[in-house]
Amino acid sequence: MSTQLYHLQQEHLARLQRDYATLLEEHRLDCLAIYSGHANAFFGDDQTPTFQTYGHFMHWVPLADLQHSWLVIRPHQRPQLYLYAPTDFWHLPTQLPEEPWVAEFDVHLCSDKRQPTLEGHAAFIGDIAQLPTASQHAQLNPTSLVHRLDELRITKSAYEIACLREANRLAMAGHEAAQAAFIGASGELDIQLAYLAGSRQRESAVPYQNIIGLNDHAGVLHYQHYDLSPPKQRHSLLVDAGRRFRGYCADITRTHAGPDAPALFGELVSALHTLKDELVGGVVSGADFVALHEQMHHQLGDILVSHDLFQGSVDQGVAEGVTRAFCPHGLGHSLGLQVHDVAGLRQPDGSSAPPPNAHPALRLTRKLEPNMVVTIEPGLYFIPMLLAPLRQQGLPINWTLVDHCLPCGGIRIEDNIVVTDKGPTNLTP
Ligand code: GLY
Ligand code: MN
Ligand code: MN
Repeated sequence: MSTQLYHLQQEHLARLQRDYATLLEEHRLDCLAIYSGHANAFFGDDQTPTFQTYGHFMHWVPLADLQHSWLVIRPHQRPQLYLYAPTDFWHLPTQLPEEPWVAEFDVHLCSDKRQPTLEGHAAFIGDIAQLPTASQHAQLNPTSLVHRLDELRITKSAYEIACLREANRLAMAGHEAAQAAFIGASGELDIQLAYLAGSRQRESAVPYQNIIGLNDHAGVLHYQHYDLSPPKQRHSLLVDAGRRFRGYCADITRTHAGPDAPALFGELVSALHTLKDELVGGVVSGADFVALHEQMHHQLGDILVSHDLFQGSVDQGVAEGVTRAFCPHGLGHSLGLQVHDVAGLRQPDGSSAPPPNAHPALRLTRKLEPNMVVTIEPGLYFIPMLLAPLRQQGLPINWTLVDHCLPCGGIRIEDNIVVTDKGPTNLTP
């Protein structure tokens, strides 16, 4: 695996060299310095939040927690990596991993936080606003260049797809451990700890805060707590949790019906798995992601009608916002070095492509191209504040069934999919 991965990585880096050379020449730049970023201490404190390397830096250097470091790119020259590595007895001195990719860079170990000196026409990109001095002569985060660099990340190289596949494999081991903990009647915190152990990572390394929601917490889209004690009844568990591999993110959701759930909830979980598979089938080159999102709403309408939750027609359910109340988020998003990866709301030429007014939470509005990686994550939730207006409007909803399902919170099923010429490839085992 590692030799093959290294060969893929060499191709990936060679592609970056070519693409960066073209873009720098187009922008009449002799060099570009990419800042890794750094974490700032909390106000009045000496402690810092967890940190994540700037995405364009990680596109080259597969280290997700590298601070105060620089990468300098010049067309047709080897990339220069300035690694902040102070002599320090408080921390373990910074070391590069013993992996062959390190030889692709000229590495300079730096004992202070100095910025690299750039010659000619130069630009800096990254979170440089907080640095004491950015060169007066260099351009800072030039918008058109950054948009073009974002665009390089919308399709993934074979190396990146291999990393995303490995991230998925590792995350899925966590999901299996989380499910086993739920079957063993654990509470949210212990399910989270089981997930971290199963996916072999510390909490600060997760690509986004894991969502571990039992019962009605499953209906809080970005539920952010972990209750210490298990609840008395176990209606449901929703786990939306990932893993990084070389910076690349898995973003997987599974929902489980518990022993105290009504039979209908278990049937809805099965229906959402089927819906997810059908939507994955639509992840083909040339497909319009907005149209696929709208298809999700029609199929959710079918599910609501066929399970007697909605007693009108599918078209009425979609037109009158019933399906939106049951699923207020988007079908999915681009996935890569960031869980919500860059350029999802832009056209290939860099112009803005905002979501339609009816679907403001959609984070991807592009046509799908080979080697894009996207999530497909249909959901169906029982969220009291979204259902209340439907009740007031007197829409034909079976409130008895809805009230039965309210303690289960909701369902989301999420997989990570590669678009290929031959159809979708599902990375989620
Ligand atoms: N985990 C965040 C998302 O699914 O978009
Ligand atoms: Mn997602
Ligand atoms: Mn997710």
